[in-house]
Amino acid sequence: MIARERHLREVERLLGGHPVVALLGARQVGKTTLALEVMERTREPTARFDLEDAEDLARLDDPKLALGRLDGLVVLDEVQRRPELFEVLRVLADRRGTPARFLVLGSASPDLLRQSSETLAGRVVYHELGGLALDEVGAAQRDARWLRGGFPRSFLAPSIADSAEWRRSFVRTFLERDVPELGIRIPSTTLRRFWSMIAHYHAQTWNAAELARAFGVSAGTVRRYLDLLTDALVLRQLAPWHENLSKRQVKAPKVYVADSGILHTLLGIETREDLERHPKVGASWEGFVIDELVTRLGARPEERWFWATHAGAELDLLVVRGRRRLGFEVKRTTAPTTTKSMHAALESLRLDHLYAVHAGEHTFPLTEHITALAFGRVLDDLAPLDR
Ligand SMILES: Nc1ncnc2c1ncn2[C@@H]1O[C@H](COP(=O)(O)OP(=O)(O)OP(=O)(O)O)[C@@H](O)[C@H]1O
Ligand SMILES: [Mg+2]
Repeated sequence: MIARERHLREVERLLGGHPVVALLGARQVGKTTLALEVMERTREPTARFDLEDAEDLARLDDPKLALGRLDGLVVLDEVQRRPELFEVLRVLADRRGTPARFLVLGSASPDLLRQSSETLAGRVVYHELGGLALDEVGAAQRDARWLRGGFPRSFLAPSIADSAEWRRSFVRTFLERDVPELGIRIPSTTLRRFWSMIAHYHAQTWNAAELARAFGVSAGTVRRYLDLLTDALVLRQLAPWHENLSKRQVKAPKVYVADSGILHTLLGIETREDLERHPKVGASWEGFVIDELVTRLGARPEERWFWATHAGAELDLLVVRGRRRLGFEVKRTTAPTTTKSMHAALESLRLDHLYAVHAGEHTFPLTEHITALAFGRVLDDLAPLDR
């Protein structure tokens, strides 16, 4: 078992201050395992209902009665299967003294669980469980983590062939079973084709017109596919930063396959050699590194951006918290240098600091405001944003 201390501590902290905590993450990322660990560690009474289990569902036949008499920690697993429970949770969360706290687990974003965000407004906090990160697997495992991705079963598989097979099966199950269960009525072959196409555009700016043309549907339709797969937590979007500058800035999001291992599956990459030879190797590394940077910094989704101007200046990742602004350029080189674009970003965005994240061994200053940050040393050389 890989210890997930950071997530455990954060979930426990949130449960201390909120009647309902939603632990959200893609299928198979480790939600149930983490919840069981939280239950094991608490001294209070605990109860768990798995909404994929017929017996548990039967116990919830009258949810208000069944849940209302419980105190301590109550876990509701796979809550997206019974969104009508959110109404009950709202009533229970509003009781005086709230004897029970609820940890609800789901594999879709709050937007897809729209009912929850509206019904439980002000009573629920969200915690996103991502794949295994470098602080969990160890920085020495970074190449394996990149190739295999962060799903525990894929990362821990005995061989790369087993890992690849697990991911192919994940993709199949996701398209054929999980997507329909989310109430999405799009043929699995269509979504597979779309997902694979996004893999080819990984780490690029979304171009609805181009994708619509390639796909033979309207721009609105491809946008709907994009948002659906984002809400199902298998794609990620990074929003463009814009403010009142004179330069014209890019306004479309950047799009990523959410897990590097799944990206490789969609691109037909299995081995390290496949990856090194593939034209998307740089884009894959960039997406992987950005994930690790935001995890390390503890940047919340609304604090993450990229920036690009039509004049060509750009920044792969901009993290904004309060008045603090950190910029990151990611490049798979061992000899990072400063560029015009970096200076433009520093100046236009008034960054506190800019990091040129690279694949070499050492972290060293490039200028007063630019550091060449060795990715392999990110846990040592980059401090989390303080809360
Ligand atoms: N920290 C971990 N270390 C090792 N293996 C893990 C860890 N977390 C999860 N796993 C393994 O990964 C698989 C998926 O875990 P789990 O069932 O907890 O995920 P989940 O997010 O609840 O999945 P689902 O959405 O399908 O319910 C299981 O086989 C589990 O044993
Ligand atoms: Mg589960």
